[in-house]
Amino acid sequence: MRVPLTILLLSGFGLTFQAEAATVNYDEAVMPSFTLPDPLVCFDGSPVVSAEDWISRRRPEVLDAFRREVYGRSPGAPQKVEYRLLEASSEVLDGTAIRKQVRLVVHGLAPDRSVALDLLLYIPKAGGNPAPAFVGLNFRGNHAVTFDPEVLLPQPWTGTRPNGERVEFRPQESERGSQASRWPIPMILEQGYAVGTVYCGDIDPDFHDGFANGVHPLFRQAGETERAEDAWGTIAGWAWGLSRVLDYLETDPDIDAGKVAVIGHSRLGKTALWAGAEDPRFAMVISNDSGCGGAALSRRRIGESVERINTAFPHWFCTNYRAFNDNEDASLVDQHLLLALIAPRPVYVASAEDDKWADPRGEFLALRAASPVYKLFGGDGLEGVEAATVNQPVAADAMFYHLRSGGHDITPFDWQQYLAAADRFLK
Ligand code: GCU
Repeated sequence: MRVPLTILLLSGFGLTFQAEAATVNYDEAVMPSFTLPDPLVCFDGSPVVSAEDWISRRRPEVLDAFRREVYGRSPGAPQKVEYRLLEASSEVLDGTAIRKQVRLVVHGLAPDRSVALDLLLYIPKAGGNPAPAFVGLNFRGNHAVTFDPEVLLPQPWTGTRPNGERVEFRPQESERGSQASRWPIPMILEQGYAVGTVYCGDIDPDFHDGFANGVHPLFRQAGETERAEDAWGTIAGWAWGLSRVLDYLETDPDIDAGKVAVIGHSRLGKTALWAGAEDPRFAMVISNDSGCGGAALSRRRIGESVERINTAFPHWFCTNYRAFNDNEDASLVDQHLLLALIAPRPVYVASAEDDKWADPRGEFLALRAASPVYKLFGGDGLEGVEAATVNQPVAADAMFYHLRSGGHDITPFDWQQYLAAADRFLK
């Protein structure tokens, strides 16, 4: 049953607020009214008048607010990383491409601690090297993104939930290619781009275990028992891992590391956005159906809300984010400011018509609300665009949006639009 939010808010009892938390609203007519933080007004109330002003004053405080309130604070680049070429071939896809599988062994503070990220990389031979590239994480292992029989299975892992329940990941040969529709590798290569991917679980397995496994323990100080309220969550860990991939790509002569687009779908779209915000080396940022905690405006509370996401996925964000459960207006930021952090680099937000959980309209409005920052850099904004027509991409210089027909997925149609947009900036 859907209970109108206004009735719940008017009644004002604690119990009623619990009922509200259990309710998902898809109706703009009963959406709470709200005011978005103005991208061009600093937290002290002073106006942002130029691109320099944005870069020197406003961007740092917005980035810091996202670290403190939403994703948590990540460590810097690790002191020590080893690159091990696990496998390579220059005769893949009928001799048109090169494949490399590189293990990034990332060390932490203690010399005996490390995690291994296995990067699968395809590079086109045509077009001349170094190639621009798309980089993103995958959900189920590198072997799931392609039917290529040479792609290595990911490393298995086991873990324990706080309630003692065991969680296991045992990659199967039978899953090879099971996510291939999301990774149209031949199409990407044909258009002259390299494509690289890492299984997100290599960086941090996607379940709540109190940050016992993955990259987080690597940077725990000796004797540290309590996690800080702004300590990095799993999304920040994944984003940090993407930066480690970019570190590697900077050493690979086949890749133009100055022309790397970071891309992700859904939770990994949230991750791509945060990676692009944290690491200005990513030349383009693409969010596919990223929804709550990604491109969608939180204050709308349409579809997945901050409370729902913090409850279902308590490990994705920092602990401080829970303060905004049913309290979105108290935050210094909303997700349009995350998109603004990417300016002036190209940003692409895509939604799917039936993906109501991710609030497609909220994703579009967030992008549109980032326009003033892109305009500071001399670009056009999307302010004049009321709504997107299904399957008709809209663009304003470095800002791109489309609303695909269909559901929550990343499809060849989505990729075609990303490739066309990339051609304008990365070629
Ligand atoms: C869930 C979650 C979303 C997330 C999605 C996904 O639906 O609520 O926030 O984007 O999973 O990653 O597929």
